Amino acid sequence: MREKPSRNLALDLTRVTEAAALAAARYMGRGDKPAGDQAAVDAMRLVLNTIEMDGVVVIGEGEKDEAPMLYNGERLGTGEPPQVDIAVDPIDGTRLLALGRANSISTVAIAERGSMFDPGPIVYMHKMAVGPEATGYIDLDAPIADNLEAVARAKSADVDDLTVIILDRPRHQQIIQQVRQAGARIRLITDGDVAGAVMTAWPESGIDMLIGIGGTPEGVLAACALKCMGGEIQGRLHPRNEEEAALAKELGYDLEKVLNIDDLVRSDEVFFSITGITDGELVDGVKYFGEGARTHSLVMRARSGTVREIIATHRWEKLMVFSEISYDRIG
Ligand code: FBP
Repeated sequence: MREKPSRNLALDLTRVTEAAALAAARYMGRGDKPAGDQAAVDAMRLVLNTIEMDGVVVIGEGEKDEAPMLYNGERLGTGEPPQVDIAVDPIDGTRLLALGRANSISTVAIAERGSMFDPGPIVYMHKMAVGPEATGYIDLDAPIADNLEAVARAKSADVDDLTVIILDRPRHQQIIQQVRQAGARIRLITDGDVAGAVMTAWPESGIDMLIGIGGTPEGVLAACALKCMGGEIQGRLHPRNEEEAALAKELGYDLEKVLNIDDLVRSDEVFFSITGITDGELVDGVKYFGEGARTHSLVMRARSGTVREIIATHRWEKLMVFSEISYDRIG
C-alpha cells in the first residue's frame, strides 16, 4: 500500500534549498561553475536524506551539463513512507552564480510517487507560462500576438503594459520579434527559466509571461511551482536534432502534444521550495555576515495553495557543531 504525502513536506524542503544555497553562494563570482554545482549537490543530498520519505529522483541534474549528479533514479530520504517523486535543480543558473549575476536560485520539488513527467533524453521544451490571473487564457498553438492579447484581457491591461521574460538565445529571435511587434515589453535573461516562470505568479517581480525554449527538467520544476501558486504552464518537447526526434518517438514521446500542467505533474500533492543564491526579483541572495548568514526562500504546497516567504538567519557557532557541511568557509 502506498501512503500519500500528508505532512507539509514543503517546510522540510526549505532546509534543503537553504543548505544548497548557503554552500553554493560561497562560489559567487569565482568563475567556477562545477565547484559551485558540486557544493550545492552535496548539501542538497545530505539534507534530503534526513527527510522522512521514500523518494526517487525523477528530475535530476541534466546530462546536458555533465554536472555532478543527483542522478535520475537515485533514492533519497529515510526510506519510510510517503513514497514520492523528487525534482531537483541544486542551482538553476550555474553560470549566473559563477559570474555573480542576478537570479541564481536553488530549487527542489516533491510530488506523489509516479506523478512527475519523465522527460527521458529530451533536453529542451518550448514553454509558455503565466500567473493565476491569466490561467486558462494561453494556448501554445496560437500566435504569440493572440496570447498576449488574451493575457492582457485577463489582467484588465493593455498588451503594452505586459512584460514577457525570455531567455536570450539566438533560437528565440522570432519569438522576440513577435513580442516586439505585438507591443509588449521584454526582459531578456541570460539563464534561469525556473525563476522566470515562478516570477509570472509573483506580482512584485513585474513579469507577466514566460515564453521560449528551455530545459525540460526546468519545465517540470516550474509546473510544480505554478501548481502551488495557481498559475499555468504549457510545453511541447523540442528535440535538438533528427536523431533526438527519432529516439523520442521510439521511446513513445508525442512531439506534437501540448503538455499541460497536469501532464507535467499529475498530482495535487506537490511541494516546492526555492532559495536565492544571488539577489534577484524573486528572492534575495545569501548574505554572509561573519558569524552566520541570511537566506530568503519561497515555500509552497499545492493542496493548500499557501506560499510562505521564509527569511532565515543561520548561526555558524551553533550550526557547525553538528553540520557536516562547512558553510562558514569555502570547501
Ligand atoms: P543550469 O544552471 O542548470 O545550467 O541551467 C540554466 C538554464 O538557463 C535553465 O534555466 C534553462 O532552462 C536552460 O539553462 C536553457 O538551456 P541553454 O542554456 O542550453 O539554452
